[in-house]
Amino acid sequence: MELQGKRILLGITGGVAAYKAASLLRLMTGAGAQVQVVMTGPATRFVTPVTFQALSGRPVYVDQWDPRMPNNMAHIDLSREADAILVAPASANFLARVAQGLADDLLTTLVLARDCPLLVAPAMNRQMWENPATRRNVASLRQDGIEIFGPAAGVQACGEAGEGRMLEPGELLESLLAFFTPKLLAGRRVLMTAGPTFEAIDPVRGITNLSSGRMGYAIAQAAARAGSQVTLVSGPVSLPVPQGVERIPVLSALEMHAAVMERAARADVFIGVAAVADYRVAAVAHQKLKKELGGLPEIRLLANPDILADVAALPGAPFCVGFAAESENLEEYAQRKRQRKNVPLIVGNLIQDGFGGEDNRVILFDDQGSHPLPPASKAELARQLIEYLARLLEKRECTGST
Ligand code: C5P
Repeated sequence: MELQGKRILLGITGGVAAYKAASLLRLMTGAGAQVQVVMTGPATRFVTPVTFQALSGRPVYVDQWDPRMPNNMAHIDLSREADAILVAPASANFLARVAQGLADDLLTTLVLARDCPLLVAPAMNRQMWENPATRRNVASLRQDGIEIFGPAAGVQACGEAGEGRMLEPGELLESLLAFFTPKLLAGRRVLMTAGPTFEAIDPVRGITNLSSGRMGYAIAQAAARAGSQVTLVSGPVSLPVPQGVERIPVLSALEMHAAVMERAARADVFIGVAAVADYRVAAVAHQKLKKELGGLPEIRLLANPDILADVAALPGAPFCVGFAAESENLEEYAQRKRQRKNVPLIVGNLIQDGFGGEDNRVILFDDQGSHPLPPASKAELARQLIEYLARLLEKRECTGST
């Protein structure tokens, strides 16, 4: 529950995208947030307050004169109760009013009275977004420290195509999570591998493994949320690219090796999460192998390069993090791997605890010994790993070690 304990005021203004605010609200409460909805009058023309009341389990406020507020200070009470105000969709008119400091309805009044961050997700026709007046307003909102999420480009409800679409609810949730994440890796470049590799036998067959890529993708997402620039060299998986992450898709270990070595010199951190095949097929058949040929086929294997060890051996190597997925003797094997591959930090896990699933149990091994993390979801473990990594980097820089 990544937004557990967070109180968020969700402001909804008049725009077609208001219907998407219902899904956004579901995602926010699903992530543990307590959400209080405030709508502008025009917003209620698109979706009624009843929908948001049912989804948030709280009364929805529209009017600054609402008699349900005991002291008639809705604008103060509602803004003081919030850790952040997110307005999605934010219309051109709303942005203009906030930029001017107007307080002519409940939402703009509580925005003016706030003592918490304001985040807005603009949604409007592309001409309205491009209008010099909106450009000016957005520039002054930015100058006032207001976070602008999006907008995206694409086909709009009016049938025109261009910039001005509200970000999708999932993207807004991710922007919100990133907003609340301390920027422990700000300014760092993180290079990673994730997923399995696929070693072709012929044009349709190959050798691969059951790595889902979930742990690697969760770490890429946590690193991006923590403010780093993340490049993820990924084997074949069916996972969406985490927001803010650059994905380089590859198939084989050799392709993964080449993609990593090309970028390693520019990275501050390298995290090898991929389940790289140890061997590849020596002679890949150009045509599909036919079983009628008789006899059992013989496949000769060659050893693949060790990507992690090769990165760690580079002069001025990035800070390297490796994984050790073992089925027994975790501590012994992990520490041995740490020494053999010459990497400062190894994340160890027993495959029976997490391979392919949502949850995992890991132990971190470094030169100070072993640090078990409590069993948790891969997203939570990824967050803790990034926190630990950031502390190690800082410590190294303070002591001047390499
Ligand atoms: O040697 P082993 O496969 O057990 O080591 C696992 C660690 O090394 C992981 O971090 C994995 O991503 C990395 N590795 C690699 N290239 C290989 C084999 C493993 O980068 N060829």
